[in-house]
Amino acid sequence: MNNKYYLKCENCGIKIGDFSIWFKNSQTCPSCKTNWATVHYYDPIKRITEYIKPNGQKPDNLWHYFDFLPLLDKKNIITRGEGVIPVDHWPFLEEYAKRKFGINVTVLAYRNDLNPGTGTFKDAAAASAASILKEHGIKEYSIASTGNIATAYAHYLAAAGISIAVFIPNDALEAHEAEISNYGQRIFRVNGDYAMAKQVAAEYSKKHGILLSGGNTDPMRVEAKKTMVFEWLRQLGKLPDVYIQALSGGTGPIAIDKACDELSELNLIKKVPRFILIQPHNCDPMTQAWKKAKANNFPEGWENDYPVINNPHSKVPTLATGNPKTYPIIGSLVKKSNGEIISFNEDEMADVAKLIAYETTVKIGPASAIAVGGFFEALKDGILKDGETVMINVGEGVLRALDFMAEMIYTTINVDSVDECKPPARGDFAAGLWAKFDKYAE
Ligand SMILES: Cc1ncc(COP(=O)(O)O)c(C=O)c1O
Ligand SMILES: [Zn+2]
Repeated sequence: MNNKYYLKCENCGIKIGDFSIWFKNSQTCPSCKTNWATVHYYDPIKRITEYIKPNGQKPDNLWHYFDFLPLLDKKNIITRGEGVIPVDHWPFLEEYAKRKFGINVTVLAYRNDLNPGTGTFKDAAAASAASILKEHGIKEYSIASTGNIATAYAHYLAAAGISIAVFIPNDALEAHEAEISNYGQRIFRVNGDYAMAKQVAAEYSKKHGILLSGGNTDPMRVEAKKTMVFEWLRQLGKLPDVYIQALSGGTGPIAIDKACDELSELNLIKKVPRFILIQPHNCDPMTQAWKKAKANNFPEGWENDYPVINNPHSKVPTLATGNPKTYPIIGSLVKKSNGEIISFNEDEMADVAKLIAYETTVKIGPASAIAVGGFFEALKDGILKDGETVMINVGEGVLRALDFMAEMIYTTINVDSVDECKPPARGDFAAGLWAKFDKYAE
């Protein structure tokens, strides 16, 4: 017990106490054994207003929000400067929306690729987990992951002196494997899909009595990602109307919803962003479930009606969650926010990434290309409205997706002599890059 925070079971509602009790019970509720608990603070979150005041000074890292994170002693903080990343303005997408759809939107990009740990959306969660695990003297941990979360955990837990066994599916990118290995963390590449990697990891955790990362509702992850909302308030003074994110299991929306609930209760915000979540079309079980539920007017039990895609063949292993066990939670959050779950054609990811790099010099990775692609799809579907501010989560850079990087090559001319080399005009490429998106407006 402590006087800062407590965990509460989301199923039976009992107060669990702190992480030591949660860990002792293998991250389940001691009473009903559910593995979903949320963190609550004794000190009212209203004090957040002290931390989100625009004073022109950039905080050093996630731990700027220490008072609203479940860590007791600052000496246990592990950080690489994550979680305080810029929000960029992307006017070229605003111009497209105006030109092709006649609507005025403000488009912002949340630059998670600039996280200094491992360059993804997952660094904040890993910093939080590494610090909390350190505080509770945990020396061994385990995780099943499609790539980004494992890489972030491998890095931050190494910094905390904690060993982690990482279970990756057979389609995980080699660059992830190399990086995790580099930190001296053990990898088990499971001969199967992500669902199978999770299963082997769960058996390993049970067999050896080693804690396994709790997945999308893991309170250590949710609390860290919650600070995203604080950062938007600090940087923009308000929340976006729409939040666009590539969807795998949905930790992002779960965390945003939690922050917004707490802030709304205190009248600190008036509106929660609408979630527009995007899946790659080759692994989009949540989109399929959502479409079906919507077409049938959300019949009784719709949240539990979802397909399972075994061994999904997606080019975005990071997003290849074929068995979307969190759909009951995510579907409900999306409905509550008046949002949508849609898909983007993953064969067009490179077109998106080339366009973004051309317009901004930002090199986005595959999962980010799915999110940005979702912006075009959302315009086509008529689900963005005049006057709205849209935040796109750029969850990762291109760093580890070497095959995807190779698809970026488009300006090369092979030559035999100088006679074939004409001075280039960069502007000549614009029309061709933009033309790929004409069809969204037809
Ligand atoms: C870059 C990136 N974007 C989005 C996601 C999806 O995150 P979630 O669905 O857990 O919120 C992931 C998950 O691995 C990711 O790595
Ligand atoms: Zn319980």
